[in-house]
Amino acid sequence: MAVRGLGYLTLRQKSTLIKMGSQSNNWEKWIPILEAEIVKSLSKARKANRQGHGLDHLRRVWRTCLQLGTQLEADLEILVAAAYLHDLGILQKLSPKHGMLSAELAKPVLDRIGFPEAKKARTLHAIGVHDITFSNRNRDTLESKILYDADKSESLGVIGVLRYIVILYHRKSIDYILQDLEKRWQGLCLAETKALKKSDYEYTRHYFQELNQLSEKTFPLSDASALTKHYLK
Ligand SMILES: [Fe+2]
Ligand SMILES: [Fe+2]
Repeated sequence: MAVRGLGYLTLRQKSTLIKMGSQSNNWEKWIPILEAEIVKSLSKARKANRQGHGLDHLRRVWRTCLQLGTQLEADLEILVAAAYLHDLGILQKLSPKHGMLSAELAKPVLDRIGFPEAKKARTLHAIGVHDITFSNRNRDTLESKILYDADKSESLGVIGVLRYIVILYHRKSIDYILQDLEKRWQGLCLAETKALKKSDYEYTRHYFQELNQLSEKTFPLSDASALTKHYLK
């Protein structure tokens, strides 16, 4: 099988992927098809809705899905479609409660691209319950757990720092960001995600802890968020 662009996988993950043989081949063909669909949806969305939910976000979520899905032997065809289509709803309606709208909008896309009938329900389920208004009890399939964890992993590591700065920095305190980070980390579904992302989590936490301490020492205001407001004026 062709295993292109998988430099971010370990040798063990690559060999598991190769062992999975024909099933692994199936997901590759969907990437250009799904990206073409998403580009159309992104071009119609408002800038505020696209922020943090663009093609780069979808590609990173898919990469994490591929890493976890390979390790846990999940259905990668379901995961690739779920990863690329999971935020369709937020492109229309900027709300934390967008999973079910995403699933509603993904259904005709799956029909149009000729996605396997037998895999549609599980794909739409994973998309539907990925948002934070659902609890982990609702994520009762392997693919729904992986999608949720991959999406939440976006708050970790260098990308996590960037996303917090762009999305929350100017309107929330650093304490709030640290609490939000902790909530996302504790709320992950899978021990495998924590093992994979531990250093990224520690990186983001360390960054904001340091920033908090620095702002308390150098900025003569009790509210640390004043520092962020000061820099983003
Ligand atoms: Fe989402
Ligand atoms: Fe997302």
